[in-house]
Amino acid sequence: MKKIKVGIVGLGRLGRKHAENLAFRIPRCELTAVCSVIEEEVQEVMEAWNIPYGYTKYEEMLENKELDAIFIASPSNFHCEQIKQALSLGLHVFSEKPLGLYIKEAYDVHQAVKAHPNQVFMLGFMRRYDRSYMAAKEKIEAGVIGEPFLIRCYGLDPANKMDSFLKFARANYSGGLFLDMSIHDFDLARWYLGTEAKEVWAIGGSYARPEFDEIEDAETGAAMVRFENNSIGIFVAGRNCAHGYHIETEIIGTKGTLRIGTVPERNQVVIMKDEGVIQECVDGFLERFEQAYLSEAEEFINCILQNRKPGVTVEDGVQSTILGYSCKKSFEMRQLIEVKAENMIYE
Ligand code: NAI
Repeated sequence: MKKIKVGIVGLGRLGRKHAENLAFRIPRCELTAVCSVIEEEVQEVMEAWNIPYGYTKYEEMLENKELDAIFIASPSNFHCEQIKQALSLGLHVFSEKPLGLYIKEAYDVHQAVKAHPNQVFMLGFMRRYDRSYMAAKEKIEAGVIGEPFLIRCYGLDPANKMDSFLKFARANYSGGLFLDMSIHDFDLARWYLGTEAKEVWAIGGSYARPEFDEIEDAETGAAMVRFENNSIGIFVAGRNCAHGYHIETEIIGTKGTLRIGTVPERNQVVIMKDEGVIQECVDGFLERFEQAYLSEAEEFINCILQNRKPGVTVEDGVQSTILGYSCKKSFEMRQLIEVKAENMIYE
């Protein structure tokens, strides 16, 4: 039985989880090579999991003729270049979000994907593979809430991870709060509402940690979006959520409302004691989206094996980057802006 041989670049917070899934949890996949600029990470993973090839240079991994596919989990500013390089060598590619940090580079990747129609390209919008988000999509398509016209999203990272985020943000260019965090919500909004953004007003600030001002980013922000079909999006994102990792989505339709993750509970245990009635909260993306990260990787491998394309397309990557970048511009310029890629393509 043929196995798809995969090489992964990036062995950090998320790359390590993807690598583990690819190595152990997908029977028709073989994690053949790992790559990171940090040599100790490469050695550690190779030894611990018996991986045959390890590299500190991406270009060298790409020369490995055994590989069928590349999984990209490097910092966001490398995605576009690494995707194009892998595609040009005939490899299938999965890339973490966001597709690009600039509209021009996202369009370039779009062209590269279109130029290689026989290769699978997939972007890591894993919420589309989360059971609850999938169930919500099915309800919308079945007309359960009528016509959806408003989406409200919270994407809040735990306060106890702020130090490690600041380290990440200083070392890598994340693209800022809206391109890094809200990008998942932008993709969901487009998926659920079936429309593209028309205008956006984004604001934000630093409330607990002034370091966010120093890196010209917002610690907490909010974006209000009007879509082309006149539906509304309200997107709140933040890095200082005291109770844990809180990802919540509400979709309001003409005949009802759906909510996902309103109480971001870790499990079904309720603790009752002198402090009150307590439900513990999930502590991060790895815990909340464990199933979705595995399901999206399975889908990528199955698409290669079955010679078909995944539901998340390069167009989804381009459109979400356009919206994320527009929010970033609106936040920086302190004004409502029209979402027009042509106006921002050469920035
Ligand atoms: P991280 O900083 O923890 O890890 C980055 C890894 O890439 C490290 O192993 C580092 O050594 C390696 N690296 C850096 N530059 C490299 C280069 N030029 N060539 C090869 N390796 C290189 O970052 P983290 O949090 O794992 O994020 C990685 C990507 O995943 C980012 O694009 C981020 O936006 C995305 N992400 C997506 C999430 C999701 O829910 N889908 C959640 C967290 C991150």
